[in-house]
Order: sequence, then C-alpha cells, then structure tokens
Amino acid sequence: MRALVVVPTYDERESLPGTLSRLRAAVPQADVLVVDDASPDGTGRIADSIAAQDRAVHVLHRAGKGGLGAAYVAGFGWGLERGYEVLVEMDADGSHLPEQLPRLLDRLADRPQPDLVIGSRWVPGGRVENWPWYRAALSRGGNTYTRLALGMPVHDATAGFRAFPANTLRRIDLASVESHGYCFQVDMTWRVVRGGGTVAEVPITFVERAAGESKMSRAIVLEALRKVTLWGARRRWDQLRAVRRRPARR
Ligand code: GDD
Ligand code: MN
Repeated sequence: MRALVVVPTYDERESLPGTLSRLRAAVPQADVLVVDDASPDGTGRIADSIAAQDRAVHVLHRAGKGGLGAAYVAGFGWGLERGYEVLVEMDADGSHLPEQLPRLLDRLADRPQPDLVIGSRWVPGGRVENWPWYRAALSRGGNTYTRLALGMPVHDATAGFRAFPANTLRRIDLASVESHGYCFQVDMTWRVVRGGGTVAEVPITFVERAAGESKMSRAIVLEALRKVTLWGARRRWDQLRAVRRRPARR
C-alpha cells in the first residue's frame, strides 16, 4: 500500500531531522510530507534541505500558524490528490516512535480493514514516558469524558499517531472540519464512528519530547471541552427524537 506520513511542524528545528531519519529507516517504503506553518525557528528551511537530499520527503509550506487540524487537512488533501492509499499522522517531536509505525500499518492491512487505526496510550500495553502527572491526568480525563459524552468505544481519541485508509478520508468532508487544535483528533474519530466506521487501537509508547516545547494551551483544551460537550448534547438530542418518533406499540 502506498503510504504517506504527514508530519506537522511548528518550531521543531531540533527534533525534525532525527525524527525523519528514524522514520525513513523504520518504514523506507513510505513517503513523508512535512507540513510547516512558517515556523519562526526555520524548521521549514531545514525540511526543504532534507527534501532536497531525499526524494521520498516532501514539504508543504503554509503562511502562518493555523493549528494542527488545518495543517493535517492541507496535508491529507495533498496526499489524496496524489493517490496515496494510506495517510498517517505523526508528531515531529519524537513522541511517536517511528519504529512502532509498522504496528499501525500491519493492523491496517488486516481484513476486514478498519476504517481508522489509532496508536493508543490508554489500552493494555500502551505507555507514556516522561509526562508530568498533570499532562497524563488531562489526557486520561479528557478521554474518559469523551468516551462518556459521545458513547465511543475508543480509549485514546485524542491520540496523534494514527493511520487512515484513503477511502475513509474521502468519505469525510475535510473542508468542513473546523477543529483547530488537538480537538481535531477527536473530531476525526467521531466522524469515523458516526459514519458507522470501525476504529482499531494498537498499543504504543508515547515518549515526551526531549527538545523544544509543546504547543498545548488553555485555548486548545477549552476548544476540545466545548466541542465534545456540544457533540455529546447533539447526540443525546438525536437519540431522544428517534425514540419519540417511534410509533407507540399496541
Ligand atoms: N503545522 C503545524 N501548525 N504544526 C503544529 C501546530 C500548528 O499550529 N501545532 C502543533 N503542531 C505540531 C508540532 O510541531 C508537533 O509536531 C505536533 O504538532 C504535536 O504538537 P505538540 O505540541 O508536541 O503536542 P503535544 O505533545 O502537546 O500533544 C500530543 O498529545 C496530544 C493530546 O493527546 C500530540 O500527540 C497531539 O497530537 C495529541 O492530540
Ligand atoms: Mn509533543
């Protein structure tokens, strides 16, 4: 299967080269697309110079910081136009181990094929290394809330290490995805589940970055909380209406 690994970057000068060389070694058959939002630290130029040496590496430059969701939507569009059969999401900072990507791709090759494979921290065998307790609590709490609000059987809906068959993305109206921050991950998961798709989770080890800084912010957390609550309320409302519309039994 022709796979494209989309790697969004914003100020990842120190991490990107190592991540890309490990990725190319671990999964040499996959192409890579770096989506850089005009990083002030020059990550885009570094990506260009790596791409100039390696034909499997491509770079998409965007005008400014538009959020993780917008970067992925642009990257997916680029890949779908070029006929890739699998589109992968992976962070640039080393948190997602390129050496574990084959686990995700192998699961995607199973028949019947899942509509989404998530590299999960919160299933048996999954782990997080070097996260402060509050970050782990936020991720676990956010995932529990999401599972309850949306009734999704997914343990790591915010995970950013995942693989989509191109067909799943073609069925989703990507232009209508307006989640900017990490909420994009929940949004995509929810769209797959709501559309009747199947989600498979494989355990991964998430290793907190060694260099640079997380772009997580209060605004990103609030966007996710607000959206998940809204989607959950809408789901309950639809359920209620369906029950009321059912004709009374005699
Ligand atoms: N192009 C672009 N534009 N890239 C971005 C932007 C943006 O606005 N914001 C973040 N990124 C890139 C980072 O450069 C990195 O490669 C990746 O997206 C993840 O960002 P981090 O800031 O390192 O995320 P994190 O470690 O705090 O969060 C991780 O956990 C989240 C919650 O579980 C990630 O795996 C997220 O994807 C995940 O949702
Ligand atoms: Mn990170």
